Amino acid sequence: MKNVILKAGINESGKPVLTDKVGNQFECPVKDKANKQKLTWAVKKEAFVKVINKEGGAMSYSVSNSSTDKDWTKDASSMLLDQWLNKPAANVPAEQAEVMAFIQKSPELKPDTLKMQDLKWKYLVRSAMRGKNIMMTGPAGCGKTMAAKTVVNALDRPEFYFNLGATQDPRATLIGNVHFNKESGTFFSESMFVKAIQTENAVILMDELSRAHPEAWNILMTVLDEGQRYLRLDEADGSPTIKVAPGVTFIATANIGNEYTATRVMDRALLDRFIIVEMDTLNASEEFELLTKLFPNVDTKTVNAISEIAHATRVEVKSEVARISTSISTRACVEMTSLVYDGFSLTEAAEVIMYPQYDDAGGADSERTFVKQLVQKFCDDGTDEDLFNTEDVDGADQDQQ
Ligand SMILES: Nc1ncnc2c1ncn2[C@@H]1O[C@H](COP(=O)(O)OP(=O)(O)OP(=O)(O)O)[C@@H](O)[C@H]1O
Ligand SMILES: [Mg+2]
Repeated sequence: MKNVILKAGINESGKPVLTDKVGNQFECPVKDKANKQKLTWAVKKEAFVKVINKEGGAMSYSVSNSSTDKDWTKDASSMLLDQWLNKPAANVPAEQAEVMAFIQKSPELKPDTLKMQDLKWKYLVRSAMRGKNIMMTGPAGCGKTMAAKTVVNALDRPEFYFNLGATQDPRATLIGNVHFNKESGTFFSESMFVKAIQTENAVILMDELSRAHPEAWNILMTVLDEGQRYLRLDEADGSPTIKVAPGVTFIATANIGNEYTATRVMDRALLDRFIIVEMDTLNASEEFELLTKLFPNVDTKTVNAISEIAHATRVEVKSEVARISTSISTRACVEMTSLVYDGFSLTEAAEVIMYPQYDDAGGADSERTFVKQLVQKFCDDGTDEDLFNTEDVDGADQDQQ
């Protein structure tokens, strides 16, 4: 059995907690009197506490008042989280315990190539298992579609994919076509979406919902409403409806944020029908990790430069006096690294992937000049264009071809 040594104390919000050496804090659910007394004392004295993990998941505590416990445990999270936070209460039904265990273990189902916080991933898995309507939000190219597709794979349920951003005729895509002929009268050829919602336990991806035609949103209103869950085949009141089968989960993606003026502003009532899972943009070291994983053969210095450049654009966009209006996405970073893998220089990759995203109006003050300078800071491969020193002919030549 593994035991850990933690330091007792009070956290910022005044709660008693145990802390490990790397700063993880744990509230400990102690029920029995003897342990409670020990811990209360330890919290007061800020003493070290040895948490003894007994057979069957029970805990006991041994308190030491030494203030320099050299065995202070570095990272207790995995063990204690298992024991305290996620342990089902004794009277949980077996089925519920199974669901909890699945959610708890779900980070193992997340591939290394998808960067997403474990907590958000677990929330996504749990929401999908519970048949919630899920909306993945975040800027372009941050992994919304990828995460949605990955969770469907992980759950091993019937999958349907609809790209609503690309549909011109929402009625035909979501409902189908109504035909009429004299012999048989009106008949209806149903859409794939109609099949999808009638499939029990299906996971239905509605990609780019924020770009969909408002008519699509109208149609989806009743489908997504917890209390209705049906699709009306015609606008007219009293027209036939199709029920959403039990266990169906909808996962939508949306670019929501002021950077995306081209995206239609989604109706509040529609948005309210979803729980939101926000994808985070990666920081430089996460980006580096991802790119190295995807392209282990690309020189780490270049991978690092790409990660740092992207990060710098993200910081700049958020600053109050931002000199650029958009940042470099993870998708663009992956593309740039794949060009480098195929033999392009960093400057060349930046030129074809990054620069076109930035306006060059305004010369030296343009957004493009800003990003060029940024790239230049990271390029020492001799091929970068020097924006100021025009005498550096060697460098300028190659880059302007
Ligand atoms: N968080 C991430 N983890 C791993 N790869 C990522 C991540 N974000 C983006 N990528 C890479 O970028 C590519 C594009 O990601 P994805 O299509 O999921 O973005 P998106 O958020 O759906 O973008 P859009 O808003 O344009 O639809 C992926 O194929 C992957 O290579
Ligand atoms: Mg997408």
